[in-house]
Amino acid sequence: MTTPEDVRSRLADVLTRARDRSRALTDCVDDDDLVTQHSPLMSPLVWDLAHIGNQEELWLVRDVGGREPVRRDIDELYDAFAHPRSTRPALPLLNPTEARNYVAQVRDKAWDVLDRSPLRGRRLEDEGFAFAMIAQHEQQHDETMLATHQLRRGPAVLAAPAAPRTAAIPRGEVVVPGGEFEMGTSTDPWALDNERPAHRVSLPAFAIDAAPVTNAQYVEFIADGGYRRRELWSERGWAHRVDAELDAPQFWVDDGTGSWWRRAFGTMEPLRDHQPVVHVCWFEADAYARWAGRRLPTEAEWERAARWDPVSGRSRRFPWGDAEPTPEHANLGQRHLEPAEVGAYPAGASPLGVHQLVGDVWEWTSSDFLPYPGFSAFPYREYSEVFHGGDYKVLRGGSFGTDAVACRGTFRNWDHPIRRQIFAGFRCARDLERDV
Ligand SMILES: [Fe+2]
Repeated sequence: MTTPEDVRSRLADVLTRARDRSRALTDCVDDDDLVTQHSPLMSPLVWDLAHIGNQEELWLVRDVGGREPVRRDIDELYDAFAHPRSTRPALPLLNPTEARNYVAQVRDKAWDVLDRSPLRGRRLEDEGFAFAMIAQHEQQHDETMLATHQLRRGPAVLAAPAAPRTAAIPRGEVVVPGGEFEMGTSTDPWALDNERPAHRVSLPAFAIDAAPVTNAQYVEFIADGGYRRRELWSERGWAHRVDAELDAPQFWVDDGTGSWWRRAFGTMEPLRDHQPVVHVCWFEADAYARWAGRRLPTEAEWERAARWDPVSGRSRRFPWGDAEPTPEHANLGQRHLEPAEVGAYPAGASPLGVHQLVGDVWEWTSSDFLPYPGFSAFPYREYSEVFHGGDYKVLRGGSFGTDAVACRGTFRNWDHPIRRQIFAGFRCARDLERDV
């Protein structure tokens, strides 16, 4: 049985881990760099940092703790809806020293609130939900800051050991039998509103790739004229390909001799054949799938492949079971600054033998971002509800830059189909002629 003290100590761990990472991502560059906008798609790093503190102040210090505001005057500056990313550098933001002091001051108070919360009763506090939500929020911004680091020009400032390689490449596809399964969750205490409630979904049999599409496979698509053949692209996808002059994944460089290189966090390296392709937009993934005579999986197919256990018939939290991810299961948490080769995590495969559904790269699905039947916004509409039905495609599974606290078999991410700066790849699926 989990006691409130167990929950409190786990919350302390996830909050500390998030803050250590935010610090590492902002202490590795100088103050000028922190206030610079490295891409119009991203905020200056110093905005993310103070925004992390401001959300923590709003939810933990003021709402859960019922304390006086630390800095009510800056709420508006760090409201993500009031100011789109492109406009944030022009705001009178806290400078790096002020931002660091602010987040530290808020965290001090949040620790005090955590000490005193019963972690039950009120829905926001039950099982520590608000604290876990804030840890997930910080980690999501840390992944965004990591994407800013990838976009930033200049020498490398981040370092990590290389991701694991493999000798056994999972080949081909896995057949997932048709039938009903439970999608989403009503019981995972830290799941966010868009993952709820659990509901039954029935699917016909389908086949899904045993591993994400690799660089070598993607190079074949390019070599076969993938970016020149109009018929492989949707109408919108082709218009975007032409407008944005797409001819390879973002950060790929052709050295002129037929070899591809990839720029990653300030270093150039030869493309590794067996790593999943990363930094492709949804339109590119969709065109590749058409070229391969296949399609992207739906979100429901992805989740059935990831969670459904054919022996017990129940849906697990992760492909390998209900246990929290370890370094043997999946490439998560920025332990590496790249996806691992396919087949590097046999212990993380699903019961049916689908590899690396969690970690490495977010996987584009064919699905639009819509609420589950019975959805209700909690604790605020701006987390999910305002995005429902917009121009977004769902991504699943987390990347090497996603922390375990913000990743589970039910976790849903979404982004515009043109976005490539996120750590996204994909795998393909196809219908089967008849049910198996
Ligand atoms: Fe945010």
